[in-house]
Amino acid sequence: MRAVVRDAYGPVDVLRLATAEDLAPEPDEVVVRVAAASLNMADLDHLLGRPRLARLGTGLVRPSSRRVGVDVAGTVAEVGQAVPGLRAGDRVWADLFSVGHGALADRVRVPASAVSPLPDGVTFDDAATVPHSGSLALQGLRAAGPIRPGERVLVNGAGGCVGPFAVQIAKARGAVVTAVDHGDKLDFLRELGADEVIDHTREDFTRGDGRFDVVLDIADTRSVAALRRALAPGGRYVLIARRIGSFAEKALLGPVVGRLTGTRIGVFAWRPNQRADLAELAELLAAGDVVPRIDRRYGLDEPVEAFRRLGSGQARGKVLVVP
Ligand SMILES: NC(=O)c1ccc[n+]([C@@H]2O[C@H](COP(=O)([O-])OP(=O)(O)OC[C@H]3O[C@@H](n4cnc5c(N)ncnc54)[C@H](OP(=O)(O)O)[C@@H]3O)[C@@H](O)[C@H]2O)c1
Repeated sequence: MRAVVRDAYGPVDVLRLATAEDLAPEPDEVVVRVAAASLNMADLDHLLGRPRLARLGTGLVRPSSRRVGVDVAGTVAEVGQAVPGLRAGDRVWADLFSVGHGALADRVRVPASAVSPLPDGVTFDDAATVPHSGSLALQGLRAAGPIRPGERVLVNGAGGCVGPFAVQIAKARGAVVTAVDHGDKLDFLRELGADEVIDHTREDFTRGDGRFDVVLDIADTRSVAALRRALAPGGRYVLIARRIGSFAEKALLGPVVGRLTGTRIGVFAWRPNQRADLAELAELLAAGDVVPRIDRRYGLDEPVEAFRRLGSGQARGKVLVVP
């Protein structure tokens, strides 16, 4: 098999394509033949070993795992003896964030419980864009509580990996969506269905006239004190980003300020790779409510170029790595 590996924490030049013997699955595992993988900011964080605190779990000096990539779509190639309900040839998709990564390969061995059935109507390329970022968007919006048609939803940092899913899911719920990002991404945000767009370099959404029922914060650029100005009475704010200082501020101070101002400001507990979430995302794809955006495709032998594209801020949609 061929797999993208790294022996040290980033920058991206640490990535290389390696060949290794094919491994047979353990009794509770499957081997997935990868049809497509996509990159997420989580992959770049994992590569660079940031934040440094995360290295307590991933290896203090050097990464404990060489494997790279979380989002994967493909077919089951081999099935462990004790795996019920899966057969060679089954189409599957998964977020490998909590099961050792390794999507950037032509084959990956994973616990069978980590893969979910991929409906026939979804192409592998589309499927590979979804599990990690689509689930973050879905769970983040869910944490804000049910979105009623006509409610005003603002997505801060809407033009990256998670944002396009959040914009489209909020639109599918009937929300009026405002998307915030760099000026050169505004056309892309309109194409996604955003009703209003804000260039963060020209306008601070917490100082405008707009008051929002829901703020989903991916870019994480404002303090609790500023954010309360952007919320309508009863408004709900959910932080997606995970910067330690800001996370602590929103988790600790948010509920206090929320109580004083009649709003709800907080964080949420992310649960990666939930089968029910992937099923819900598959329904949104089937209905055409969420249309995955693919920026560029790279080969397995181009991991450095693919990660550079991810980190460039130029991508409009997901960066794919296709074996
Ligand atoms: N909640 C959880 O448990 C959990 C789990 C995993 C990951 N995460 C977090 O989820 C986030 C991933 O988001 P992502 O993959 O969508 O990130 P991303 O691809 O980097 O998207 C962020 C977007 O925000 C834009 N941006 C930068 N500065 C901005 C500003 N001042 N105002 C508005 N927009 C701005 C970026 O533009 P440029 O690209 O041009 O800079 C980019 O389009 C990460 O922060 C990660 O830590 C959370």
